[in-house]
Amino acid sequence: MTDIIEPHGGILCDLLVHGKQGIQLRPESIHLPSLTLNDRQLCDLELLLNGSFSPLTGFLTQKDYDSVVSDLHLSNGTLWPIPITLDVDNEFSNDISSGDKIVLRDHEGVALAVLTISDKWTPNKENEAAQVYGTHDRTHPAVDYLLNQSGEVYIGGKLEGLELPRHYDYKMLRHNPAELRAQFEKMGWTTVVAFQTRNPMHCAHKELTVRAAREIGGNLLIHPVVGMTKPGDVDHYTRVRCYKKIMDKFPDDTAMLSLLPLAMRMGGPREALWHAIIRKNYGCTHLIVGRDHAGPGVDSEGNPFYGPYDAQELLSQYAEEIGIQMVPFKLMVYVEERAEYMPIDEVPENLTQLNISGTELRRRLDKGLDIPEWFSY
Ligand code: ADX
Ligand code: MG
Repeated sequence: MTDIIEPHGGILCDLLVHGKQGIQLRPESIHLPSLTLNDRQLCDLELLLNGSFSPLTGFLTQKDYDSVVSDLHLSNGTLWPIPITLDVDNEFSNDISSGDKIVLRDHEGVALAVLTISDKWTPNKENEAAQVYGTHDRTHPAVDYLLNQSGEVYIGGKLEGLELPRHYDYKMLRHNPAELRAQFEKMGWTTVVAFQTRNPMHCAHKELTVRAAREIGGNLLIHPVVGMTKPGDVDHYTRVRCYKKIMDKFPDDTAMLSLLPLAMRMGGPREALWHAIIRKNYGCTHLIVGRDHAGPGVDSEGNPFYGPYDAQELLSQYAEEIGIQMVPFKLMVYVEERAEYMPIDEVPENLTQLNISGTELRRRLDKGLDIPEWFSY
């Protein structure tokens, strides 16, 4: 593992084993027990290996897991809000012990990394759900994964990367943290605000991002998630076509688009802290957090899982510790009389506010109804 120290963004881990060592590791790995990763685990592995999850050097150990779940910090005191764990079933776990090495593979059998197991334990999943996501309700996608799909046992330990998971789409729009930092430096971008999204971008989002860049006097990184988002979201192929188009709406050379293969948990406030750490690793100095950031919608009783500004509140507590600044926004609405977008708390009382919810938009698209000019390009 190589640590690259950079002036901005702090320490970056590169868990890929390069050169001679890498050449030795590959034939050694052939004889190790092997584990085929599911889609979510593959996303986590990619971001571990390429340094997006710095300072993590592997899947969490039991001590770090306990500390992250109960206290938002690793056992050494570093902030880390979301447990990055490797779950396996009992059958697999029975055949391995602490100290063993295993090889992690993709669906095609490509060997991606060697994991040296330091810990193996049966987690208290009910406790994890309650502490990390604040609910046991299975309509929450991460709680559904945790309680209905994930293996019974967690294994933790350090990773040695052989290669990154392969992607065949939009290669030129994918960057690892070191590449993006280098790109920012080359362009002379010292102040960069990241925009996290899992949705197509409409006029409100363009307005939000332009305002944010103007506010901080810096540049803009459109950083959409193309790993796993909320089930039922618009697929990433469609979204990337939309992001590419909207890039033309920003002033020349002020904004950049890069795709992030993250597996979101839809963890609201805790997820916002995680997003901030990741964006800092990519060299950003600021992160936009608007209304209901990384929110999973409503539970089985129809109540929202998180308050609309819970994510902003938690990040405001921890932004300094992370070393990134938050650019908060209230709900952006269209003000008819002014023909412009404004934060809802700044709209004068006598003016008309317009807004189309995601549900309403899907209904209109399904029925082939008109989408107003002010809403989307
Ligand atoms: S998610 O990552 O938060 O689930 P989404 O694409 O819905 O994705 O939102 C991206 C970011 O824009 C979040 O920070 C969200 O709070 C913010 N956002 C989206 N729409 C609005 C809006 N109309 N007003 C204020 N903030 C918004
Ligand atoms: Mg949203």
